Amino acid sequence: MEKTTQNKKMKSSAKRNSDGTGNSELKEFFVDELKDILWAEKHIVKTLPKMQKAATTEELKNAFEEHLEISKTHVERLEQVFGILGEKVQAKTCEAIQGITKEGESIIEDTEDGTATRDVGLILAAQKVEHYEISTYGGLAQLATTLGLSEVAELLHTTLEEEKEADVKLTEIAESSVNYEAAGETEE
Ligand SMILES: [Fe+2]
Ligand SMILES: [Fe+2]
Repeated sequence: MEKTTQNKKMKSSAKRNSDGTGNSELKEFFVDELKDILWAEKHIVKTLPKMQKAATTEELKNAFEEHLEISKTHVERLEQVFGILGEKVQAKTCEAIQGITKEGESIIEDTEDGTATRDVGLILAAQKVEHYEISTYGGLAQLATTLGLSEVAELLHTTLEEEKEADVKLTEIAESSVNYEAAGETEE
């Protein structure tokens, strides 16, 4: 509902902008997307401690703890971006991340505490979050470059690389042991 109204608003102002560049329109859209990912990062910062607590292996607990600290710097980096753009730091509900993290919570409910299956589920949920972030930061870094905002592009790119690293790490944890252990677990 909210998105539809927003889309309509963007369409109508695009019509008004007849200078052929569409730049201000694009920048408005860019800032709007920054608000979305800021909300997402803040939500991730709130969610990661729950995932850390729910995880079975120390390895996964540590990975979540580490990514919590990194995610806090992602929030700061975004705040820096708002500053560079001269925009007010503002977050806007990101329904996608809300949905993905809800799924993560139901995985916790549906799996036994202390099992490798729990970790498999948590890794799956966390990787969905990372992939959402990777696609968002990838797109936004590219858009920043298009808009000629090189400093902003660089900041977004740094975060993008950290999200990719987090994703690789989760794959390593899954492949090294957790998946195999889970495959050997029997239902009680
Ligand atoms: Fe992040
Ligand atoms: Fe992340």
